[in-house]
Amino acid sequence: MDEYGAESESRVMVIYGTRPEAIKMAPVIKSLEADSYLTPIVVVTAQHREMLDQVNQVFGIVPDVDLNMMAHGQSLNSIAGSVISKIDEVLAEFEPDAVVVQGDTTTVMGAAIAAFNREVPVVHLEAGLRSGDINSPFPEEANRKIVSQIARVHLAPTTVSRSNLLADGVPEENIHVIGNTVIDALQWAVERPVKFSLPELQALESDDRRVLLVTTHRRENLGENMVNIGKALRNLATHYPDLLIIWPAHKNPKVRASIAPQIQDLDNVISIEPVEYGEFSHLINASDIVLTDSGGIQEEAPSLGKPVLVLRENTERPEAIDAGTVKLIGTATETIISEVSRLLDDKTAYREMANAVNPYGDGHSAGRSVDILNELLGNR
Ligand code: UD1
Ligand code: UDP
Repeated sequence: MDEYGAESESRVMVIYGTRPEAIKMAPVIKSLEADSYLTPIVVVTAQHREMLDQVNQVFGIVPDVDLNMMAHGQSLNSIAGSVISKIDEVLAEFEPDAVVVQGDTTTVMGAAIAAFNREVPVVHLEAGLRSGDINSPFPEEANRKIVSQIARVHLAPTTVSRSNLLADGVPEENIHVIGNTVIDALQWAVERPVKFSLPELQALESDDRRVLLVTTHRRENLGENMVNIGKALRNLATHYPDLLIIWPAHKNPKVRASIAPQIQDLDNVISIEPVEYGEFSHLINASDIVLTDSGGIQEEAPSLGKPVLVLRENTERPEAIDAGTVKLIGTATETIISEVSRLLDDKTAYREMANAVNPYGDGHSAGRSVDILNELLGNR
């Protein structure tokens, strides 16, 4: 309350730059908009351009500030430098009471440093994920650790991430286990009726073939690993004519250059542009197996009961592996072929992995994050 008895509002700046951050931040922005004590200021770095806009459109979010930073071939340091200097200007202009960042991208690390240097409390959503290897995922593991050192509030998705933060010396009272807002976003998207925009995807309804949904983009997989993944897809498509492979290609030209030439002449492979989030959640549902190096998809597909084979050597998301729905398989061509074949040929092996599990949240994480922000800012 101010001196006249009116409710005073705290200004919370949410800053994000890439597709996964946008998806996981959207439920928080919606909850902030609905809260009577907090006013969101939405700032996008646009480290991603088209893939970010696609998400903002689905959720009906119009940023207050768009730094329009993406450049083709951007380096980690060019992104980090621009994020720190541009976010510094935005912080000076808007003087928010708190900053929220989500996840582990270079936008997140740069924005957290800029806010810390201006003594604005940083709230880190999806805090405490650790692979244990500073070089993998690169540079995300380092980004998470840096943000954990300077954040004021750590919103951990699970008790595993809480333990990781405690092991890094984060004070217990600054950690809150709230689940992952990706499940809030996913539940919203899955419940929303959707008609696929592409005829190839519309045709899935009357197609009996089994569907392998593939996404890849990790920096440490660029080059040889990505080529190996492409080889495996070619082999699988050739050996299983009754398999339909769907590859929504990440916008990174380096990803496309390694995979596209190996699969573009195959009838049972559909290469498409990134699918908008509302449709993508339904596409996971329409698939039988998911093959991915994505972080977010490792969290979403298990909750839809889809087996996930992860194209990485390690993960910071062990919960669904422990539950049996996710398996780490790396990027060797032969291993990818044998692991996908096993799920296609062995019904028992498939059934053992196709369990709907929800270790990452109950769909109410955004509301919890807003309650904690109100506590931090003295509103409750
Ligand atoms: C980034 C994040 C990664 C996150 C991923 C989600 C870093 C270092 N990496 O990786 O943690 O998992 O996003 O997808 O923060 N591009 C476009 N349009 C887009 C998006 C990307 O053309 O909408 C192209 C551009 O040429 C850009 C390139 O992809 O330079 C790479 O984008 P960048 O954000 O640097 O890295 P990602 O691999 O996308
Ligand atoms: N996604 C999407 N359309 C696609 C592919 C992925 O909306 O064509 C969503 C997916 O559901 C997940 C997020 O994008 O929520 C994952 O993004 P990405 O794999 O780029 O990043 P990561 O999660 O690995 O950081």
